[in-house]
Amino acid sequence: MNRRRIGIMGGTLDPVHDGHLHMARYALDALQLDVVLMLPSGNPPHKPDIIPAVHRWRMLSLACTGVPGLEMCREEIDRQGVIFTVDTLASLREKYPRAEFFYLIGADTLMELKKWREYGRVLRLTKFAVCPRSTRYTLEELDAERDRLTLLGGDIRYLDMPAIDVSSTAVREAIASGKPAPHLSPLVQEYAEIYGLYGAVPRIPEAAAWLDRVHDDLTVKRFAHALGVAATARRLALLHGLDADRAEAAGLLHDCVKCWPLERMQRVARENALTDDEAILASGAMLHSVVGEYVARTVYGVTDPAILSAIRWHTTGTPGMTRLDMAVWLADAIEPTREDYPGLAELRSLAEVSLEKAIEKSLDSTLRYVRQKGLSVHPATADTLAWLRTLPACQP
Ligand SMILES: [Fe+2]
Ligand SMILES: [Fe+2]
Repeated sequence: MNRRRIGIMGGTLDPVHDGHLHMARYALDALQLDVVLMLPSGNPPHKPDIIPAVHRWRMLSLACTGVPGLEMCREEIDRQGVIFTVDTLASLREKYPRAEFFYLIGADTLMELKKWREYGRVLRLTKFAVCPRSTRYTLEELDAERDRLTLLGGDIRYLDMPAIDVSSTAVREAIASGKPAPHLSPLVQEYAEIYGLYGAVPRIPEAAAWLDRVHDDLTVKRFAHALGVAATARRLALLHGLDADRAEAAGLLHDCVKCWPLERMQRVARENALTDDEAILASGAMLHSVVGEYVARTVYGVTDPAILSAIRWHTTGTPGMTRLDMAVWLADAIEPTREDYPGLAELRSLAEVSLEKAIEKSLDSTLRYVRQKGLSVHPATADTLAWLRTLPACQP
């Protein structure tokens, strides 16, 4: 069996940004790694200003969702007290006895390696891959240190990475000001804003408590989708002069029961007489919006009819749906984690121009596709399309 080649990306990742992800992906390719372990540190006792580990972990999992080759690693995050890299590496060595490790570091860390506890042993436990760009040290200084560590038995190689300059401070400042942060996943930004991290001012007071519950009820992928829909619905609402907080709230909760087993949705729907439509009762893809609206009301405590309506109609649509319903419906179809499908780019552009036209186009292609395949579609979808075509916005 070949030895696995494993990259390790450590640090506080506070928050993880494109600079980290870029380096991890670059190393995967350049060093032909099987995987990069994303290894956030725990709560360091000497650094009380670092965001709690639970949030750094969740933001990291949002940023890594759907990125092949990156694997989340809890090795340090669950440990208490001061954590030394040498202990982490010894523990990883036990878990992966035949692996070849490549610890990914920046140039400044290379210069500080000599201060790490038992660094001679660290050099025997892992190789290092260094991004050799530094504003503090010259290449000569880096080379000299690399040569010195090599003489001690270290294996230190440079990664010839294209430059991507990301300042964690600039990222945090952008989050605090509510402006889109450059080089940051929009899902991470949405998450940070909802929890009021890095000085952000939460817009929806209940949203952090909602998100704790949504997080526990959904898969990581679906959780990322919910944040993507919330951020996109907010953006569309602002573009089209709608209530952005309501759109965002509906986006956060629209799929709150999506990961429930169908039987559980059916039981709740029947016990509470939510629908007697057998086609909807038989399909989790439609039923989750009916039950989701009920759960948003009774469990999450949402009373705003506009939010509840957007959750209720986000699957089939309905004749007479509001423009806020449309913004959430479209956000569901175009949010950033959506895998590419024919017409997605066009739909994204059209949604910025006209909600009505965008939703009409999307429903039209869905119906064409379904009919071509000889499948059936719920009458509500066809009714919604026919109604949309009567609107002035959809006239040629
Ligand atoms: Fe949904
Ligand atoms: Fe959804």
